[in-house]
Amino acid sequence: MITHEPLFMGKNVIQFEEIDSTNVYAAELIAKTNPMEGTCIVSDFQSAGKGQIGRYWHSAAAKNLLSSFILYPKNLAATDQFYLNIISGLAVMDVVSSFCKDVSIKWPNDIYVQNKKIAGILVQNTLRGKDVKSTIIGIGLNVNESAFPHDLPNPTSLALETDTLFSLENIRLHLSTRLEYYYNKLNAKHYTALKQQYLNHLYRKNMLCGYLLNDGTKINGAIIGIDHDGRLLINIDGKITPFAFREISYII
Ligand code: BTN
Repeated sequence: MITHEPLFMGKNVIQFEEIDSTNVYAAELIAKTNPMEGTCIVSDFQSAGKGQIGRYWHSAAAKNLLSSFILYPKNLAATDQFYLNIISGLAVMDVVSSFCKDVSIKWPNDIYVQNKKIAGILVQNTLRGKDVKSTIIGIGLNVNESAFPHDLPNPTSLALETDTLFSLENIRLHLSTRLEYYYNKLNAKHYTALKQQYLNHLYRKNMLCGYLLNDGTKINGAIIGIDHDGRLLINIDGKITPFAFREISYII
């Protein structure tokens, strides 16, 4: 539910019918001008939508939310930058949870409904010395798309989950409100509470499941949490092992 209007998040909206990538546009804007905090770039379609690890982000025209928020965190150490993944994951999770059951955050910050991916997030930070100077939080949330390309492993959308069509603008407003809420907590340095909330909703936490390592080995283990750098901690036969993003994939 939207309890109040955001004060700055998504107040300045730059809207396109088509663009290569809202994250790329946001980065150009930061490089050339001084966009106000909370500026939100949205587009009906992206010709080169960016996913994690160089992947393409698919989204049919005018069906889904494709948005990038520009923020300047206050005194956020580069060593704490994973909190930007935490707050964006929590914000999107809240929005999805107000319409769907069984919503979780798949590390680092995909949003899942049961075993299906409903949203992806691409956080791109610029550092200044030891601090995060600016961040672009790129959020792709599947809203009204109901038929996805077959090569996507497990997509879903709010429409598929609820049999309802949604206003993209209302979803964006709701998301802006939740992102502002968690961003304020981050600036107030509520690190422990934010991390705990993230862990409370972590997909497959404490469940013995299969994972694929980079060298092709399959392992069974249970996620127990994340370390300070945001690496995933898995208990494999009693040994707690950290994994960076590119080092492991989930067998779903
Ligand atoms: C992922 O791979 O799961 C992350 C996907 C992030 C997609 C969003 S859509 C809006 C923003 N602009 C981009 O080019 N990517 C992000």
